[in-house]
Amino acid sequence: MNVDRRRETPLARRGAPRFIADRTHLVEDAETALRLGKHVLLRGPTGSGKTRLAEALADRLQLDMESVNCSVDLDLEALLGHRTLGISEGRTVVEYVEGPVIRAMRLGRMLYIDELNVARPEVLPILHGALDHRRQLTNPLTAEVVVAHPNFCVIAAINEGYAGTSALNEALLNRFVVFDVPYVQGEALAQLIREASALSNADHVERFVRLSADLVRASEIGELPVEAASVRALLDACDLSAHMPPLRAIRYAIAGKLSDPREQDLVLELASSYFRGE
Ligand SMILES: Nc1ncnc2c1ncn2[C@@H]1O[C@H](COP(=O)(O)OP(=O)(O)OP(=O)(O)O)[C@@H](O)[C@H]1O
Ligand SMILES: [Mg+2]
Repeated sequence: MNVDRRRETPLARRGAPRFIADRTHLVEDAETALRLGKHVLLRGPTGSGKTRLAEALADRLQLDMESVNCSVDLDLEALLGHRTLGISEGRTVVEYVEGPVIRAMRLGRMLYIDELNVARPEVLPILHGALDHRRQLTNPLTAEVVVAHPNFCVIAAINEGYAGTSALNEALLNRFVVFDVPYVQGEALAQLIREASALSNADHVERFVRLSADLVRASEIGELPVEAASVRALLDACDLSAHMPPLRAIRYAIAGKLSDPREQDLVLELASSYFRGE
């Protein structure tokens, strides 16, 4: 079969990243919060579209984006920049290379901080002044006070409840307005599958939407981990199923990611009620 991996999805072709929400006012309200100078925390499980939503908001506000990906190794340098040796007029000099936080503050960009709750809590207080009414911080690498450009804003994302994450420090959390980003469902999910995946069979799209509802329900009652209902995984399954039987696609893209064989079996059992014999 000839699969063109460079194939552009309709979403990608249109250029602007689109976030599709259920009937909620998620996108408009988060945009309003940012326009009012608030910083936004997106809270939701893996593959629920948090990064996509941040991109869509940057696009709506016409802001360039700087990104920081938190890990337990995140240090001040990854946020603020580092010093390096350079040559000026034949002499070796110490130069400062700006990090994403300083760049975003100075140039008025959106700062996207992914997995904020994975960073060690002692690294983040440096951001407090930038995130509250002061809108400034003292850069310990240069001893300069950096005052944020009026357009500077922060979107942070957290995946709650996963191994390796810690509860956000109250003082940091207090500096954000919080938006929950659940897995999109129903007609909005159908629209997303149609726009963003390779699947065009309308009947199959409907069945994937119903399977997703079952997966969400099973995760709500604790029979499956929450990521079993990930929209990212579902879109992968839809893409694959445009080229192979859906049950196989679901095994590779959804069931196969679960570590417990009983959970894998449950996913396939739920899926087979929609796709048996396909
Ligand atoms: N509501 C949605 N609207 C548009 N795209 C979505 C939506 N939900 C999920 N997606 C798609 O699913 C994929 C995963 O989304 P994204 O990477 O933004 O998730 P995430 O919440 O940031 O996940 P993680 O916590 O693992 O970083 C992307 O291809 C994204 O376009
Ligand atoms: Mg993300």
